Amino acid sequence: MSYIEMKDISYKYPLAHDETLKNISYTFEKGKLYGIIGPNGGGKTTICNLIKGLIPSFYGGELTGEVYIDGKEIREWDSGTLASLVGYIFQNPFTQISGIKETVFEEIALGLENLGVKREEIISKVMDVSKRLKIEHLITKNPNRLSGGQRQRVAFAAIVAMDCDIFVIDEPTSQLDPKGTSDVFEIIHMLKEQGKTILLVEHKIDLIAEYADEILAINQGELVAKGNTKRVLADESLLMKGIGVPQIALLSHDMQRANKPFDRFAITKDEAKEQILKKDSEKICL
Ligand SMILES: Nc1ncnc2c1ncn2[C@@H]1O[C@H](COP(=O)(O)OP(=O)(O)OP(=O)(O)O)[C@@H](O)[C@H]1O
Ligand SMILES: [Mg+2]
Repeated sequence: MSYIEMKDISYKYPLAHDETLKNISYTFEKGKLYGIIGPNGGGKTTICNLIKGLIPSFYGGELTGEVYIDGKEIREWDSGTLASLVGYIFQNPFTQISGIKETVFEEIALGLENLGVKREEIISKVMDVSKRLKIEHLITKNPNRLSGGQRQRVAFAAIVAMDCDIFVIDEPTSQLDPKGTSDVFEIIHMLKEQGKTILLVEHKIDLIAEYADEILAINQGELVAKGNTKRVLADESLLMKGIGVPQIALLSHDMQRANKPFDRFAITKDEAKEQILKKDSEKICL
């Protein structure tokens, strides 16, 4: 069932010469995880701004086409209700931190306060989310004195605490080390298990291959590939369109060219391992 729908979207920022989004249509279903990929400047963050309702209300510019969320055109949503439905984790954690709160606790509580949540509930939600995101040790610290990675986690916690139905997450791991990255993906996985609809911009294509149900590949404002993750990433012509593919997908193609194809095309390490072990055991049987 269509939950979010972009219909023939074209958009030009004020003062820009060219359109940043060009005739984009896509239907998002409830409970799925969508990976938004593509080179720098392609328009990924602009799509996030659009779904969050910031275009054109905040950014201005010229928008044509429609965006429907739960059947209602985005411009018809009351901004407060939309804010509680769509949580947005910005690409730059330095922009996300409010700058007006003196502790991480207050920073995480801010969104809940704005939603009018009761004090006791705020305390329990903030404590719960801090535990889940492993930032309990930061709770009394000043958010303005945190590192980029720590800010990214706090920004994430503030949105998770709001328990929105839709999460728009723009490069959540750009400031994180491998451990922080896997922690964040654990949370994203947990949100998906809870039935949340997730739009995730991420450059780490191996993680997208592992977690996304569907992919939107965008380059220079155009949707150059879309749909089922495996089908999209198994298409070698994606490279010609400026979109990176997982090394494992390239290995699968190499195996095909060597006339030793995997039974099932692999795009993740685990899938490749399974296929290689299978080939091995077949050899032993012979
Ligand atoms: N506020 C703005 N005003 C004018 N042009 C903008 C604005 N924000 C972004 N752009 C332009 O729109 C295009 C798409 O930018 P966007 O930030 O959506 O790309 P992106 O795919 O998120 O890139 P990145 O991977 O670097 O984050 C770029 O050419 C950018 O310069
Ligand atoms: Mg961006």
